[in-house]
Amino acid sequence: MENQIPKSLQFPHYQKYGTAEPNSIKSVVVLQGSPRKDGISKTEVVTAAFLEGCQEAGASTEIVNLRDKKISHCVGCFTCWTKTPGVCIFKDDVAEIMQKTEKADLVVYAAPLYHFGIISLLKKYIERTLPGVEPYLIPRGDGHTTHPHRKGYKPVQNTVIIGVCGFPEVSHFGAFSANFHYLASAGGDWGMNIIGEIYRPASEQLNNPIFAEENNRILDEAKQAGKDVVTLGYVRPETVDAIAKVTQDGEEMHEMANKAWDYCIKNNITMPELQMMLLEKK
Ligand SMILES: Cc1cc2nc3c(=O)[nH]c(=O)nc-3n(C[C@H](O)[C@H](O)[C@H](O)COP(=O)(O)O)c2cc1C
Repeated sequence: MENQIPKSLQFPHYQKYGTAEPNSIKSVVVLQGSPRKDGISKTEVVTAAFLEGCQEAGASTEIVNLRDKKISHCVGCFTCWTKTPGVCIFKDDVAEIMQKTEKADLVVYAAPLYHFGIISLLKKYIERTLPGVEPYLIPRGDGHTTHPHRKGYKPVQNTVIIGVCGFPEVSHFGAFSANFHYLASAGGDWGMNIIGEIYRPASEQLNNPIFAEENNRILDEAKQAGKDVVTLGYVRPETVDAIAKVTQDGEEMHEMANKAWDYCIKNNITMPELQMMLLEKK
């Protein structure tokens, strides 16, 4: 028998989209969170198409590959809130990345879904942005508490989220998306003006030549999203839906994926190795 959800655990859902001024986005910085290299990252495939659209619409773009950066885990000392306000104890690459995101007109968080959430590589960076807020507890005006934003940091940043996941249903992004919307509604350093979310399920097919036609459709839509974000100031809902749409029959998709896994197990190769073989054959 099902137990009822306690009243105190019926959490708010903050999903809300904003817009940027049309043609105001001149520079785009992507924080890329996939650890995969050699062209097999599907996060990178979708992001590349999105950025192509941004560039065609006249914006400059830069990708920060978090996997190549030195990012220590926040150790929770709060030194950045007390002894050295706004300055972390770690002298790694985070301060430089934060400066880049401050200067950009749009920040794109691009990452695969890992265990239904934000991959730790990106989450680790987000946690290190703590120096951007002050320690004080203040009401944020909707019955919740927040921290004030530290002077010198942009109060609100235009933000796009790009995510990919292996399962074929877009609904797996629920917690991933909610995490960004909670950050956005918190204000302070995390004052995100979310102007688009692009999620692609069934991601492992994205550079499989068997699905070339479908992949081209998806990547054309991602490119359109990049164009629209610059020219209109937001990603159109129909574009988001078109990217999320999986046309292949669910059962057939399971069967194909399971065959590929069997092939890897029998031949003692990894899935990225199989994908690289397919790409080389192309
Ligand atoms: C540790 C791990 C956890 C994953 N968790 C999920 C998941 O919760 N849901 C899902 O649909 N796919 C999951 N995946 C699949 C990835 O999202 C998928 O392979 C994606 O294409 C990876 O992105 P990338 O190619 O850019 O690295 C997971 C993969 C790994 C390695």
